[in-house]
Formats: sequence, C-alpha cells, structure tokens
Amino acid sequence: PVGAPDKALAKKVTKVGIIGAGLMASQFALLFVRRLQVPVLITDLDQERVDKGLSYIRDEIGKLEAKGRIDGDQANKLRGLIHGTTDKTEYADCDFVIEAVFEEVGVKQQVFGDIEKIIAPDAILATNTSSLSVEEIGAKLEHPERLVGFHFFNPVAVMPLIEIVKTPATNDAALSTAFVVAKGLGKNAVLTADAPGFVVNRLLAKVMGEAARAVYEGTPLLTVEKAFGPLGLPMTPFQLIDLVGWKVAAHVQDTMAHAFPDRFFASENFHKLAELPEVVEKDKSGRVTGWSKAAEKVLKGEVGS
Ligand code: 3HC
Repeated sequence: PVGAPDKALAKKVTKVGIIGAGLMASQFALLFVRRLQVPVLITDLDQERVDKGLSYIRDEIGKLEAKGRIDGDQANKLRGLIHGTTDKTEYADCDFVIEAVFEEVGVKQQVFGDIEKIIAPDAILATNTSSLSVEEIGAKLEHPERLVGFHFFNPVAVMPLIEIVKTPATNDAALSTAFVVAKGLGKNAVLTADAPGFVVNRLLAKVMGEAARAVYEGTPLLTVEKAFGPLGLPMTPFQLIDLVGWKVAAHVQDTMAHAFPDRFFASENFHKLAELPEVVEKDKSGRVTGWSKAAEKVLKGEVGS
C-alpha cells in the first residue's frame, strides 16, 4: 500500500495482548488467534468482564466448528491459545498490544501508560480508536514511536478493512509490523492521515448523523430507511447505527462535530431518538438497541411516525 514501509522492518509477532474484553476486543481475540495462531491475552477491569469475553470467544469457536470451518482439534488449539487475566504483568512478553477500551483519550493514555511499564520498549502498541487523535493518545508514552492506529470495522470477522494510522512519531518498524499483522489477519490495510474519523467514519458519521437529523426534521424513520435502501449499500443508516451501537455512533458524531463544527452536527438527535421508548428497545443491561427494529415497527403501523 502507498506509504507502507519495507515489510522486512516488521517485528515478528509471537504473542498478542488485547486490552479490553468487550465485544470488539473479544472479536479481535478470535481473529488474532485464528489467523496468526499465536497466544492471545485478553484483560479487563475485573474477572467478570474477562470471563464474559472468554465465554463469547469460546461460543464463537464452537460456531466455527459447528459450521465445519474448523475441526475439533483446531477448535481445541484455538481455545488453548486464548487466555484471560486481570494480571497485566502477564503481558510482559507480548510483542503486539492492541487496546479496545472506552473511547476517551485519557482512558486510553492511562491504559497504555500502565502497559508500557510492563512490556518491552520496542513492543508495538496499537489503538483501535474509531475517531480520536492517535498522536494525542500517544502523547504521554515514553516511546510514542511504537504506537500506530489500527482501526477495525464491525463485524470484525467479516469486514475486510483496517485503517492504519501513522502519527509524526510512529517509526517504520511499528508501521511495517502493523501492515504485516493486518495482512496476516487476512485484511486489506490502508494508511490514513491522523485526522478525526480517519476516512471511513468521516463518511459514515455523515450518513448516520444526517439520517437521525432527517427524522427530527420530520421525515419518518422508515422513509429515511426506504429512501436509502435502493442505493444498494449493505446496510441502511439505522441498521448501521444498530450494528455499531448507538453510543459508539453518537461518540463518533460528537468527535466529528467537535473537530469540524461547520461540517458535522453533535449527536443530540441520536440521544433524542434513543429516549423514545415507543420506538427503541432496551436490553437486559439497559443498553439501547433496536434502531432498525424500530423502523420495522413503524412499517407495521405499531407506532406512529
Ligand atoms: N458478527 C459476526 N459475524 C457476522 C455478523 C456479526 N455481527 N453479521 C454477519 N456475520 C457473518 C455471518 O455469520 C456470515 O458468515 P459465514 O459466511 O461464515 O456464515 C457472513 O458474515 C455473512 O453474513 P450474512 O450471510 O448474514 O450476509 P449479509 O449479506 O447480510 O452481510 C454484513 C452481513 C457483512 C454485516 C453486511 O450487512 C455489511 O457489510 N454491512 C455493513 C457493515 C459496515 O458498514 N460496517 C462498518 C461499520 S462502522 C465501524 O465498525 C467503525 C466503528 O469505528 C464505528
């Protein structure tokens, strides 16, 4: 790819550390272990979160086995390569550490600051931030030259793209390793500028933000969906919001609006929509879900819009 340094500079990756055990992090763990066949660690704030992540990964491995994509021996091998822990010192020999924690610069700085004390000085650090400044995330690192942006898309197993982001500090070894790892994961990598939203979220934020705004300007949600459908994209705006999660989508909106107030709106329209109990459902943990189901309900005339 344009701008990618010589792959001979890449560091060999023999153990991967993932910080976080939520849905995104668990999807990474599965992909890394399946494609790179190296030990993979996941961690989170407490054992309960770690166990939840492990249980998701084991279920997904079971599904791959049931579909005949892997046999029993391979499934057992994958299960054996994944380990969950709350003890970060176990990350000491990881040579590639990627975070998928809360989208807050301070949180990411803290997480990397803690892990930097444990890992080798030349181990690569990667952030899956969807729209924050990678340079700012690395600003407090002792070795900011080893940090790259490594942005996946939902669903991680299926979407072929990774945006790799270089900061002014990123060195060629980190960049080259990122490209080689992306290739090993079976993904297409592109090098993007460290600008808010990189490339893809800059476009998707427009689609999702304008869709929500259109509803609040008086166009029924379903009409927005219907109007978009014939464009032939794999998902309509509200299906996309559902897939990404409305909180993440709202966060991307706010980041973009903050960076480019003349071009993006803040996410108030998302929040208003999420507060409408008659169109949006909540799951057991209180997470708002069902944006696209909301469109179906409107279609059936179950709610007015
Ligand atoms: N998790 C895991 N796997 C999934 C999945 C999910 N949520 N959804 C679908 N899949 C898998 C299916 O299991 C199936 O795998 P298989 O071939 O092994 O059986 C494969 O994907 C295809 O699924 P379907 O047959 O259901 O195919 P569809 O034609 O409906 O495609 C889709 C599903 C690939 C998700 C397609 O709708 C799509 O491409 N949607 C757009 C997704 C998109 O735009 N993502 C970007 C979001 S933005 C983002 O993530 C950035 C962040 O920073 C905000």
